[in-house]
Amino acid sequence: MANVSGLISPSIPTLKRRNQPSFGISRSGYHSFDKITKRVFLCYSTVEQGVPKHVSVTSPSESRVPRRLSQGCKLIGCGSAVPNLKISNDDLAQIVDTDDDWIHKRTGIRNRRVLSGKDSLTSLAVDAANKALQMAEVEPDDVDLILMCTSTPEDLFGSAPQIQKALGCKNNPLAYDITAACSGFVLGLVSAACHIRGGGFQNVLVIGADSLSRYVDWTDRGTCILFGDAAGAVLVQACDGNEDGLFAFDVHSDGDGQRHLNASMKEETSDERKVMFGSNGSAVEFPPRPYSYSCIQMNGKEVFRFANKVVPESIELSLEKAGLSSSDIDWLLLHQANQRIIDGVANRLNIPDERIISNLANYGNTSAASIPLALDEAIRSGKVQPGNIIAAAGFGAGLTWASAILRWG
Ligand code: UT7
Repeated sequence: MANVSGLISPSIPTLKRRNQPSFGISRSGYHSFDKITKRVFLCYSTVEQGVPKHVSVTSPSESRVPRRLSQGCKLIGCGSAVPNLKISNDDLAQIVDTDDDWIHKRTGIRNRRVLSGKDSLTSLAVDAANKALQMAEVEPDDVDLILMCTSTPEDLFGSAPQIQKALGCKNNPLAYDITAACSGFVLGLVSAACHIRGGGFQNVLVIGADSLSRYVDWTDRGTCILFGDAAGAVLVQACDGNEDGLFAFDVHSDGDGQRHLNASMKEETSDERKVMFGSNGSAVEFPPRPYSYSCIQMNGKEVFRFANKVVPESIELSLEKAGLSSSDIDWLLLHQANQRIIDGVANRLNIPDERIISNLANYGNTSAASIPLALDEAIRSGKVQPGNIIAAAGFGAGLTWASAILRWG
C-alpha cells in the first residue's frame, strides 16, 4: 500500500512529546499558554481581562462538555494510508458520461484511490494506526482503547478487534466501531476525549477508515465521481487538564435527512421461499431471505445545501463554547467532500484561503478517513505545527454533523 506520508518531504517533524514545550506562539499571533489555560478551565465561558462571561446555552452537546477539567487529552500522533490504485477523472470518463473539466469545476476532485485485489480496509487502518503510534512514541501494549470510525467494516460485527489483533496489543484493550459516516472521525475524537476525561483511559487510538468504493454504483455519474478509499489515525493521550487539546465540540444528527443520503439494507429477491405458519399462527416466509446493502443513493443538491448551512453554524457554536473567534483559528479542516463546500464555509467564517487544509483533489471524498488523512499530510509536510489550533468539522449520511476545536500537539 502506498504511504501518503511517503509522498511528502522526508523531514517528518517527529514529536518528542516529553521534551516538547506544551505550547508555542501560534500563527494567529498570540501565546497559546495564557489564553488556552484560562479557557480550558472555563469551557463555557469567554475570558476577557480575567473576568469570566458565560455564554448562553444553545446546543444539546454543550451539556456534554465538562465545565472544569481535571483530566485533559491531547493529540500527539497521526498516520494515514491509501490504496495503490489511482483512478483519475479521465479514467472515470471511460465508464460514465463525464469529463475531467466538469468533475474538477463542480467538486475540486482530480483523482481518488480505490481498494483492489487483495487490499483490505483493515490493513489500511492498521498501517495508519501503526504510523500514529510511532509518531506518538506509544507502544501497542500501552493502547487501552481503539475506536474504529467506519461505515464500511469488513465484518458486520465490527473491524476494531481485528485491528487490535494486527497491532499486537497484548493486553486485550477494548476496541469497537463507531458508525457515523463522514462525521465518524470527529465523533471518534469526541468519544476519545470522553473516555479519557471520564473513564480513566490513557492512550486512545482513533481511526477513520472507509471504502465507499464498495458501495458506489459505478454507472451513476452523480455519485461515482466523488468517492475514494483511505484510512487515517490519531493517537489521543491523557494529560493534565491545563494542557487539554480539545477545547470544545458540537455534535448533531437528523434522521429525517436520511432520505437524502443512504445505503439502506435491502432484501434479496432471487431465491424462492416457502410460506410457513409459525407456532403463533402467523404466516411467514421462512427461512428469511438474505439481506445486503444497496449502493449509495444521494440527492447531491440537498446534501450540498445541508452542509453549507449546518457546518458553519456548528463551527461557530464550537468556537463560541471555546471562547474563540474564527480569527484565532490557524487551520480550517473540513470533511473533504466538495471544494465548493469547503470554500463556502471558509467564506462564511472569514477564514482566508491560506488557512484552509484541502487534499480533496488527490483523494476525493474518503468519508471517515478524510479528516485524519488531510491532517496527517498537513502535519508531516510541516504545514500544521505543534500548538496550532484547528477547527475541524465532519458532515454526511445520517444525516450527522459534528465540529471540534482542537490543538495539535
Ligand atoms: O460525504 C457525503 C457528503 N456528500 C456531499 O457533500 C455531496 C454534496 N453535493 C455535491 O457535492 C454536488 O451536489 C455534486 C457534486 C454531487 C453535484 O453537483 P451539482 O452542481 O449539484 O450538479 P447537479 O447534480 O445539479 O447536476 C447538474 C448537471 C445535471 O445536468 P442537467 O440536468 O443540468 O442537464 C447533471 O445531469 O450536471 C450533470 N451531471 C454531470 N455531468 C457530467 C451530474 N453529474 C455529472 C458528471 N459529469 N459526473
